[in-house]
Amino acid sequence: MMHLLSLLLTVCVLLKEAQPWGYKNGIFHNSIWLEQAAGVYHRESRHGRYKLTYREALAVCKYEGGSIATYSQLEAARQIGLHVCSAGWFDRARVGYPINKPGSRCGHGKVGIVDYGYRLNKSERWDVYCYNAKSKECGGVLTEQKRLIQSPGFPDEYQDEQICSWHIRVRLGQRVRLHFHKFDVEEDTACLADYLEVYDSYDDVSGFVGRFCGDFLPDDIVSTGNVMTLKFLSDASVTAGGFKLQYTAFNSSLPKRWLGV
Ligand SMILES: *[C@@H]1O[C@H](CO)[C@@H](O)[C@H](O)[C@H]1NC(C)=O
Ligand SMILES: *[C@@H]1O[C@H](CO)[C@@H](O)[C@H](O)[C@H]1NC(C)=O
Repeated sequence: MMHLLSLLLTVCVLLKEAQPWGYKNGIFHNSIWLEQAAGVYHRESRHGRYKLTYREALAVCKYEGGSIATYSQLEAARQIGLHVCSAGWFDRARVGYPINKPGSRCGHGKVGIVDYGYRLNKSERWDVYCYNAKSKECGGVLTEQKRLIQSPGFPDEYQDEQICSWHIRVRLGQRVRLHFHKFDVEEDTACLADYLEVYDSYDDVSGFVGRFCGDFLPDDIVSTGNVMTLKFLSDASVTAGGFKLQYTAFNSSLPKRWLGV
């Protein structure tokens, strides 16, 4: 299992000290590592990675108004970009995770659902994949040439316990510029409570650019490639005005030295 722990752990540990979260049926409802596509998202226990029995996993999804994802929902989400390097329960006590980008660190170079099969022992502890069609508005896979991205409910205050991941993917050879129009996210010194994170990557594992909170308008951010990921998280208390930003794709002209001229 060690290979699955990867880099995420560093930030997990940081976040574990954070604010109180909802607690019900013996499960903390946090959602630090959520990827979201077609209503399917990943959850882990507040206690950390791989801590949910199948029964608890069912309770997590139900508590959030959804249900545990089926194999076909997970596969549909994978096909539009869901890539999570953590094994979780899905329907009928099956365990696995969706892989989009082949990599040795995660999924042994395989692309598809890495499937551990139906588990006979439902007391094993994993993460979970939930399905909640209503949560689509927050996050998703964006492929337009430009688009506004805003916190859920904007310009009203955003709500507690939101997690949204936006994966931006424009044409090969293009790059992405983020420009912030408005930014007001609950402030604390280390941005542990509520924050927006930006990754120069298609996932929230590599290419960390920055974590933002408070009401200071961040500078423009430009990707090095044709993808970018934004992740917004709010905890169980105190909200603020939220944010609005726009991304724009532009044609990248490679430096001449890369072309050998
Ligand atoms: C089922 O899994 C749990 C957690 O890994 C373990 O403690 C327990 O011994 C297992 N039960 C059986 C019958 O293997
Ligand atoms: C960007 O490149 C595409 C093809 O690679 C071209 O069709 C398009 O006109 C270019 N856009 C600009 C603004 O140069």
